[in-house]
Amino acid sequence: MPHTLARQTDARLGRIVRLLIAHATVVVSGTKIADEIGTSRSEVWRLVQQLRKLGVDIAGHPSTGYSLKSMPDLLLPDMLAPQLHGTIFAKHLHHYYKIGSTNTAAMEAASAGAPEGSVFLAEEQTAGRGRGANQWHSERSSGIYCSVLLRPALPPSDVLVITLAAGLAVHSAVQEIDSRVRPDLKWPNDVLIEGKKFCGILTEMHAEITRVRYVVIGIGLNVNQSSFPADLQPTATSLRLATGTEWSRVELCTALLKSLDREYRALLESAQATSSILRRFQERSSSVRGQQVQVEETPGLEGVTDGLDERGFLQVRTAQGVRTVLSGTVRLR
Ligand code: BTN
Repeated sequence: MPHTLARQTDARLGRIVRLLIAHATVVVSGTKIADEIGTSRSEVWRLVQQLRKLGVDIAGHPSTGYSLKSMPDLLLPDMLAPQLHGTIFAKHLHHYYKIGSTNTAAMEAASAGAPEGSVFLAEEQTAGRGRGANQWHSERSSGIYCSVLLRPALPPSDVLVITLAAGLAVHSAVQEIDSRVRPDLKWPNDVLIEGKKFCGILTEMHAEITRVRYVVIGIGLNVNQSSFPADLQPTATSLRLATGTEWSRVELCTALLKSLDREYRALLESAQATSSILRRFQERSSSVRGQQVQVEETPGLEGVTDGLDERGFLQVRTAQGVRTVLSGTVRLR
């Protein structure tokens, strides 16, 4: 579904959920909700029905009032924004129940002038895009499908470092929630657990020769999937499959955006940030050094990885000498 046809989630849904959370354990009358969000009682009933369709467990009806039976794990702006206060991501959160691709939505919004820090989140993508024309499996409300819009005053050559920083942000967010999980970064922007991928990052940009106009970083995280289609089973995993427990997408998404905010600000403000990102990426990647690899799109480019250069490109020691991998999929052998 193209972005232009996808409707953003009605912001009043998030406000109702927040109101019910604030009054947990009591029944809130339809009149009170209607007054708080500035609508009629019958409209509140209609919105409550919509929330139920989204999987939110709300008891009650117009004559008795409503109460929340359990905390919903939906990536609604009202659930995320209070915890993102003070970050660049707090103010322009867009949520879709179903969309083609959050990256497409973010790129379209960027070209129409959307501000830096805009975030596009979806419960489900019908045309989720991966790198190299791959699709991204985007099952409803199981994963995090998130694209952020940045407008860094940097040359296009620095964008690789931003995407490496996004991988680091995923790594820290996961470890912040469960320090037993050991994510492994695979250059340039996959994140694995025990050799299987649970996160992919698709960075797209619009740039002039010397200056970036905007960058969209699309992050797909497999969180609570309990299985994958047969073709993905050998290579894909989710945090739930890896740990045996259900994860809160709201908690993880908040931790991710906060961590990305820290990395990005440091990159803009400190001259040492790039070397810190490169050092930490190499520390958190088992394959960036000493690993036999083959670059899929470049026949003959194979050898042993030898770290990252000062711009973040992968170095591979081949029979013909050290070569720099500028793009492509690195296959571990
Ligand atoms: C890859 O590993 O190939 C990158 C996958 C990126 C998937 C995310 S999900 C959110 C955003 N929207 C998209 O269509 N793609 C990215």
